[in-house]
Amino acid sequence: MQNWEDSLEPGNRARVEAWLRYGNDLGLGPYYRDRAVLQQDVAASEGLSAKSVDQAAQTVAAAVGQAGAVSSVRVSPTSVPPVAGAPLSSSSVISSAAGPSLFEASDRIEGDTFQLIRETIGDCTRCKLHKGRTNIVFGVGSLKAQLVFVGEGPGRDEDIKGEPFVGRAGKLLTQMIEAMGLRREDVYICNVVKCRPPENRLPEKDEITTCSPFLFRQIDVIRPKVICCLGSCASQTLLQTTQGISRFRGEWFDFRGSKLIATYHPAYLLRNPNAKGEVWKDLQKVMAVLGLQPKRK
Ligand code: URA
Repeated sequence: MQNWEDSLEPGNRARVEAWLRYGNDLGLGPYYRDRAVLQQDVAASEGLSAKSVDQAAQTVAAAVGQAGAVSSVRVSPTSVPPVAGAPLSSSSVISSAAGPSLFEASDRIEGDTFQLIRETIGDCTRCKLHKGRTNIVFGVGSLKAQLVFVGEGPGRDEDIKGEPFVGRAGKLLTQMIEAMGLRREDVYICNVVKCRPPENRLPEKDEITTCSPFLFRQIDVIRPKVICCLGSCASQTLLQTTQGISRFRGEWFDFRGSKLIATYHPAYLLRNPNAKGEVWKDLQKVMAVLGLQPKRK
């Protein structure tokens, strides 16, 4: 059945969407849609006090030479992104859209395995990205990982090597992982799309819709404790929102039993090193949930 939104002229649709976003920003979501509001503080759910999280933040900041960049890791109040993941933060009231999300609608596949997923992908030609790819970049790391990083899509280096995050942004991600007291092989790293978009452009909607079910299956098989979305593409895809990442970065959400947090993409950090402090705050929250100690210098 066609959604009423789909029957609108593109111009009208954009105007309606802008109004809906405006309503959401004002916190009016519950008045125009049947929305559930969930409130639960992740620190409370993990038995962590704000103080102990603060202490961890300071320790990591010192360990990675970011002293002064981090003053607090308390979740800051924010307005209402229409997201599919259930929020875990009590300091913000975030509504989830009514009805099943793209992800909820696709059930877990009983007995699924990485081998099956890879075999199903095969020599994929499902979307136009296959035309320019050298390699399908499936993902790398531990299938028992407690932490999964999700990026956008392979770049040139990744396309050539067939491995995610091996270029400049990848090197920074590896440093971030190591600063958390982990090694690359302890976590799982993957992307929303598995083939390189031409000229490193953003993956398009149809490409994301085609490819993301395989990412969801990978996450389903791993069942990580924490998913860390790197950048807008990953976080908007998993949370089913069009809101900018800065609106909900650093907040906790539930994603089918995993805790999900969004932070800035390492490529963004290469262009905006001043944002590193914000990312460290987010990673420290992840560390607190996973009980990790920062790497000693
Ligand atoms: N950027 C991404 O989002 N993913 C990669 O694998 C590399 C760069």
